[in-house]
Amino acid sequence: MRILRFRSFRMNRNFISSNSAVLGLRGIVTSCRAVVLQRFGGPEVLELRPNVEVPDLKSNEVLVRARAVSINPLDTRMRLGYGRSIFDHIYLSYWAAILVEASAIPFAALTAWRALKSTARITEGQRLLVVGGGGAVGFTAIQLAVAAGCHVTTTCGSQSVGRMLAAGAEQAVDYTAEDIELAIKGKFDAVLDTIGGPETERISINFLKRAGHYMTLQGEAASLADKYGLAAGLPLATALLLKKQIQYRYSHGIEYWWTYMRADSEGLHEIRKLSEAGKLKVPVEKTFPITQVREAHEAKDRRHVPGKVVLEID
Ligand SMILES: NC(=O)c1ccc[n+]([C@@H]2O[C@H](COP(=O)([O-])OP(=O)(O)OC[C@H]3O[C@@H](n4cnc5c(N)ncnc54)[C@H](OP(=O)(O)O)[C@@H]3O)[C@@H](O)[C@H]2O)c1
Repeated sequence: MRILRFRSFRMNRNFISSNSAVLGLRGIVTSCRAVVLQRFGGPEVLELRPNVEVPDLKSNEVLVRARAVSINPLDTRMRLGYGRSIFDHIYLSYWAAILVEASAIPFAALTAWRALKSTARITEGQRLLVVGGGGAVGFTAIQLAVAAGCHVTTTCGSQSVGRMLAAGAEQAVDYTAEDIELAIKGKFDAVLDTIGGPETERISINFLKRAGHYMTLQGEAASLADKYGLAAGLPLATALLLKKQIQYRYSHGIEYWWTYMRADSEGLHEIRKLSEAGKLKVPVEKTFPITQVREAHEAKDRRHVPGKVVLEID
């Protein structure tokens, strides 16, 4: 089953989140509440409209009534225009869910799943380092790896240390108080770097065993395409990635990846099983009603709220 992402809304009517007012056939449901973007910018560009036409469904699509949607860092960056050259229309907060708690999981967990399972192919007994375990992606990565029988070490802020250990991380290093390079011992089979700056990249690479996988969430494909246009930006990104892959293979004997979220039915199935078994959770820090979509984005932008922010639609 695919969640309809309202594909027919194009620029000028960019679609952020939806509330199908009624669940049913396209012939019955004709309008929904929607948050639209007329232009890129700060939270003030977000506009809640009461009666937006529901797009036509294809034969393999369904209309889902969303109760809550999570706001991810990527949503706020896309609101500002990030990735505009790649996505001709924007879907922010597109992971809709029936429950507030569940809305925070799929986007983050699928991102972590793709890195750990599809890219690094982690297996039982391996050592994984998660840089930035305090965030939604890092925290779901820890839980997925623990469930797979891996030994997990992470870096996070002081307020997150207890949560990391309770989720099964064997070591949680407070990056605000400790020297990560001294505090963490031994080498790892894989590192997931959710922060992805030059410093975390350098540190992470040095922690890898030979043939280990370094995965950053901060790949440069979208930013280069935004800067130079699709035609030049994407080949440039491919060349840059290839250059780094060759360099690191030669200098450190490791595999270097930019990793991106991808909807994956097998991943979703496993994620659902783990969530239902209580092994995968993302704490929701604050919930806003959809009418306060601007305030919700503002809170995420300014990091007023540590952790997951969710918009409740009903
Ligand atoms: N490539 C993709 O497809 C993809 C998909 C999803 C997300 N992303 C990107 O990945 C990043 C993380 O996303 P998210 O949803 O997990 O964000 P998030 O929930 O907002 O979490 C960010 C966390 O990073 C931690 N942090 C900040 N600086 C740190 C440092 N120097 N060392 C360790 N931890 C640090 C903070 O944790 P503490 O509270 O513990 O300090 C913060 O809570 C964002 O930049 C997002 O845009 C990319």
